[in-house]
Amino acid sequence: MAPSLRGPAWPPRGGAAPGRSAAELLEGAYSRTMGVWSERVVPRIVDCTCASRDVMERRERVCAGLHGRVLEIGFGSGLNLGCLPHEVTSVVAVEPSDVGWRLSAKRRAASVVPVERRGLDGQAIDEADDSCDAALSTFTLCTIPDAGKALQEVRRVLRPGAELHFLEHGHSPDPGVARWQRRLEPLQRRVAGGCHLTRDLPALLAEAGFDVVDLEVGYLPGPAPSHPFGYLYAGVAVA
Ligand SMILES: C[S@@+](CC[C@H](N)C(=O)[O-])C[C@H]1O[C@@H](n2cnc3c(N)ncnc32)[C@H](O)[C@@H]1O
Repeated sequence: MAPSLRGPAWPPRGGAAPGRSAAELLEGAYSRTMGVWSERVVPRIVDCTCASRDVMERRERVCAGLHGRVLEIGFGSGLNLGCLPHEVTSVVAVEPSDVGWRLSAKRRAASVVPVERRGLDGQAIDEADDSCDAALSTFTLCTIPDAGKALQEVRRVLRPGAELHFLEHGHSPDPGVARWQRRLEPLQRRVAGGCHLTRDLPALLAEAGFDVVDLEVGYLPGPAPSHPFGYLYAGVAVA
């Protein structure tokens, strides 16, 4: 018979939680460590890795044409702020991470565009219907648990006919890469703050009622092992 993990309390003497098994203690330590990792470390990693020259060039391109009051879901550390055209008058930021928001402080202070943090969850946006002139999402729809719901919320908040500009990574059409995306996704979700690799952006946009009017796809420059993480969808969808 296999030995039971529910043995005497661990650590054996003077343990802080008598009656809890070694497995439970390890599980608690693991979830605390992962919590600290996701909340404090991942936003800093994103701030560095998503600011490469290749990515910043794509941010510039995808922000072109934004204007008026812009909703940005997953504002993060504010890496898009310096890319916004002069026609943008304000940004309504939806961002759950306090660390991300703090990391954005210098960029917000340097920006001529006022930014207001209006909520924590793109799946339930605290904004009136038809209240924004445009929306922006970059590397966010991979992370939001229910991306379809978030897109419905974005569409509700946008004026009819307004544009969502997006730059996201997702499902690759190459079968070999897609296979690796499926294999790596469980690990990626754990270590990268819930990030999915297999999301089909055009399908999600269509399901939410958006009309994709501009779409550019392809891998970020890099060796083959980076491809599962770097198949990009950049474009514009109309609400
Ligand atoms: C990979 S980061 C990208 C950050 C930023 N958009 C950028 O391009 O650098 C994903 C962002 O989505 C945010 N996020 C996670 N869950 C969210 C949710 N339910 N609603 C809105 N944003 C969310 C994270 O806090 C994080 O800032």
